[in-house]
Amino acid sequence: MKICIIGASGKLGAYMVQHALDQGYEVVGVCREKSVNKLDLYKNRITIIPGATNDREVIKKAVAGCDGVLTVLVPWGNQHYSSGTAQAVLDYAPQGARLIFSCGWHITRDGKDVYPPSIKREDKLIRWLTRIIPFADIDDQVEACQRIFASKTKWTVVRGSDLEEGESQGLPVWSRHVGDPILASNKTRRVDFALFMVDALKNDSLIHEAPAIVGCCSASALSHSAV
Ligand SMILES: NC(=O)c1ccc[n+]([C@@H]2O[C@H](COP(=O)([O-])OP(=O)(O)OC[C@H]3O[C@@H](n4cnc5c(N)ncnc54)[C@H](OP(=O)(O)O)[C@@H]3O)[C@@H](O)[C@H]2O)c1
Repeated sequence: MKICIIGASGKLGAYMVQHALDQGYEVVGVCREKSVNKLDLYKNRITIIPGATNDREVIKKAVAGCDGVLTVLVPWGNQHYSSGTAQAVLDYAPQGARLIFSCGWHITRDGKDVYPPSIKREDKLIRWLTRIIPFADIDDQVEACQRIFASKTKWTVVRGSDLEEGESQGLPVWSRHVGDPILASNKTRRVDFALFMVDALKNDSLIHEAPAIVGCCSASALSHSAV
């Protein structure tokens, strides 16, 4: 299996590289030129293609011949980074490839998510801040996901809870809607978010799903399994 990791140099990206290598996959990673050295640990084990993730030519080259593409969908700046990245992946990934995108719980697929007040406040604050200093564009990430949801490719959009560092606890559990009791703890280890992304490549039941995930050892996940 040959896979491409778009945004390989970030925290989530680096964990995904490790999990993919553990699975024996051939890995191509895309990251900004200035971040290539963040992948020094892997430089003889993966192919690195430097460039902006919303550069269509970079993505075209990186995803060629891949069976799966894992994309870190970040909304940096105000130059349509998220939607540009998503569109390039949708356009250039080989037909039939599994496409797994990452985002946060704030993305909703069908409007049926029920958000706790803390997330609503956070969303309002970020939107207010980014109107003053446009360091990120949440609406562009929403646009990116709308395009993915409308696509006929074999996509999965993995929606991450709040993240924390720490050793792996195992594959996160998931539900279709934020607000479902199993997700109440709102905490996932970043290494396990990455594990879910890589594992999704071979889990066909996740095709055309937007799972909201939570750590398998979080209190809400454990009490749900006890029930
Ligand atoms: N609380 C959270 O952090 C949280 C919660 C839920 C879901 N998520 C999701 O997790 C994913 C990424 O998380 P992460 O922890 O891996 O974050 P991260 O380490 O900050 O990585 C983010 C990615 O963005 C790139 N990046 C940073 N600044 C950029 C810029 N100005 N222009 C273009 N690219 C830039 C980074 O590349 P470089 O290495 O080149 O900087 C990296 O690939 C996203 O999909 C996010 O929606 C995060």
